[in-house]
Amino acid sequence: MAPVVSGFSKLSKADKIKWLAEHHFNNDQDTIDTLVTYWNSNDGLQRLHDEFTENTISNYYLPFSVAPNFLINNTRYTLPMAIEESSVVAAASKAAKFWQTRGGFKAEVISTTKVGQVHFMYAGNPEKLQPFFSIVKPKLLTAVAHITKNMEKRGGGILDIELRDKTTEIENYYQLHCTFETVDAMGANFINSCLEQFAKTIVTEAKEYHGFSATEKNIEIVMSILSNYVPQCLVKASASCAIKDLPNTRSLSSLQYAKKFVRAVRIAEIEPYRAVTHNKGIMNGIDAVVLATGNDFRAIEAGAHAYASRNGKYTSLTHAKIQHDILTFSITLPLALGTVGGLTSLHPLVKLALQLLGKPNAKKLMEITAVAGLAQNFAAINSLITTGIQQGHMKMHLMNILNQYKATEDEKKKLITYFETNAVTHSDVVAQIEKLRA
Ligand code: MEV
Repeated sequence: MAPVVSGFSKLSKADKIKWLAEHHFNNDQDTIDTLVTYWNSNDGLQRLHDEFTENTISNYYLPFSVAPNFLINNTRYTLPMAIEESSVVAAASKAAKFWQTRGGFKAEVISTTKVGQVHFMYAGNPEKLQPFFSIVKPKLLTAVAHITKNMEKRGGGILDIELRDKTTEIENYYQLHCTFETVDAMGANFINSCLEQFAKTIVTEAKEYHGFSATEKNIEIVMSILSNYVPQCLVKASASCAIKDLPNTRSLSSLQYAKKFVRAVRIAEIEPYRAVTHNKGIMNGIDAVVLATGNDFRAIEAGAHAYASRNGKYTSLTHAKIQHDILTFSITLPLALGTVGGLTSLHPLVKLALQLLGKPNAKKLMEITAVAGLAQNFAAINSLITTGIQQGHMKMHLMNILNQYKATEDEKKKLITYFETNAVTHSDVVAQIEKLRA
């Protein structure tokens, strides 16, 4: 077991690696070399990455890919996607190509409200709190004027502050439930700064409020933090086409395909075991764009899954229907995204990704990202109801297996050709490599 270390973050990068090598890797030189191999030779760029977090010892690469041919609201986009899963980008590109000849995707932002809360305890007479809050509310707004000034210039700011009584759930527990418009910023720092100021102001104002008894003057702040649950920051994307324009194979007519497609979505609507996987596939597309554009994919994930269970049962984020011989497929989900602040102007690839998308504002990025999720879901269901998922998945995974077995370029070429006409299974790939090498 490694010993307790103090002052680790103060060590130089080389000394951190030395400590790791000594206590975790038996001073193995290969391990040190691996970490160093991933350093960037451009010192400035490496320093930038080193300073993103504490204790950076190397860089962790993810493929930065692109998926072309996305027609969204009649504009063509090439989507940047940062993801490691082999088949995701290919699936997105395939879905984009399919829909671009069928009218493309439509997308619209429904709402952009963000939320933050000050959680506090007040052990006094509940009836005195609302009158106190009515007096304090304008003072809360004045207290954050220095923080909101710039945001207001950009068209955003605080939308409202509500006092919420939660004492039926936890004794003496109340909230300032605050809503914000943060325009093109994701807004976490702005929201948290406002909330922490609200907390300070409410505590001081309570102390001076004549209507409170001595004990009532002691409001205890538990915490002040934005919420990643943003059911009022919603975007909808959809795609529709005539049933006759859907895939039509020997085993499945277009109508049968449409019905099977709707049934597959319906199963995800009613069955949580399926819904989670169905939504995971949606998040394959969404996370990849979110990550490539420097946004917080954990926030997006948490918010999306909470929204998927908003009615008390986890369900599908997408829906499908057949009406008047037309299949319509849609997604509605919360996406609190930003195109300014955070990594957007810092990380060179994030800047490039936003440039690739034509420097979208946050609303446009919400639309594009929702489409990435819908397209990914279309590709997954299309495979699931026709060939099954493994055919495409294993084709893309072939290269990973070949790399795992350190296949040479010549071996790769031969085996890719072989697997064009043979089903890819892990065991057969290994068998074929061994056969070539025998
Ligand atoms: C795999 O990453 C995602 C899928 O399982 C999604 C789905 O089942 O809908 C293919």
